[in-house]
Amino acid sequence: MLTRLNVCQRCASKDAYLLEHSVNVAFLLVTFGKYLQFDRDKLREMAVGGILHDIGKIKVDNKVLHKPGKLTPEEFEHMKLHQVYALAIMNEAKGLSQLSKDICLMHHEKLDGRGYPRGLKGDEIPLHGRMSCIVDIFDALTATRCYKEAMSPAAAFKILLSLTPFHLDQELVYDFIRCIGIYPVGSLVELSDGQIGIVWTSKDRDALHPVVKCFYSIKFKRYTEVTMVDLLQSELYVERGVSPSSLDIDPTPFY
Ligand SMILES: [Fe+2]
Repeated sequence: MLTRLNVCQRCASKDAYLLEHSVNVAFLLVTFGKYLQFDRDKLREMAVGGILHDIGKIKVDNKVLHKPGKLTPEEFEHMKLHQVYALAIMNEAKGLSQLSKDICLMHHEKLDGRGYPRGLKGDEIPLHGRMSCIVDIFDALTATRCYKEAMSPAAAFKILLSLTPFHLDQELVYDFIRCIGIYPVGSLVELSDGQIGIVWTSKDRDALHPVVKCFYSIKFKRYTEVTMVDLLQSELYVERGVSPSSLDIDPTPFY
């Protein structure tokens, strides 16, 4: 019997990243679903679907799954099998809603029918299926892996938009951007004077004017005294979203 706990154990024993990605996708789907005013039952089913969405990868060869960098065409074909395995696993799973199964089985489909495993097209992919495609790519882009830097949310949004309308639903990508925010709380930004800081709060203000906790100066290439900059009260503005690895700084102590 497939339970949430043994799914987590199976994912974790296969690959720590697989578990982390699955939890992130579940969290993002619930956040996105809440934003679109889904009811509680649907949100629960979205979470289950998110946790399970890559369950087929437990049968993918570790050499391919853990390969740092780009896969060869043959390796990619093997990786795509995770959705064939997922079909079999979903068929045997008891008590899963259709929505949860769809999240698992549709996150690699594309609106133009060139996705996999079934090559579904347009309206054949329901709203929750389209959401899963967006969230899956967003989390993969913004994750840190041993072989690549994490992308800032702003840079990831740009890539999501470049995948519309043939792959992703454009209106839905814009909804997702509004839901997460261009500069989400916790992300790193560079201000117009070269200060680097963490977006600290954006409550009760528009997306472009958060409070930023600054701790580093790009101009002087050193850590600075920690200051809170309220962009509603300042002439400064956010120049860009940045990823910590691209600057070779460690923001961890400042959270
Ligand atoms: Fe996948």
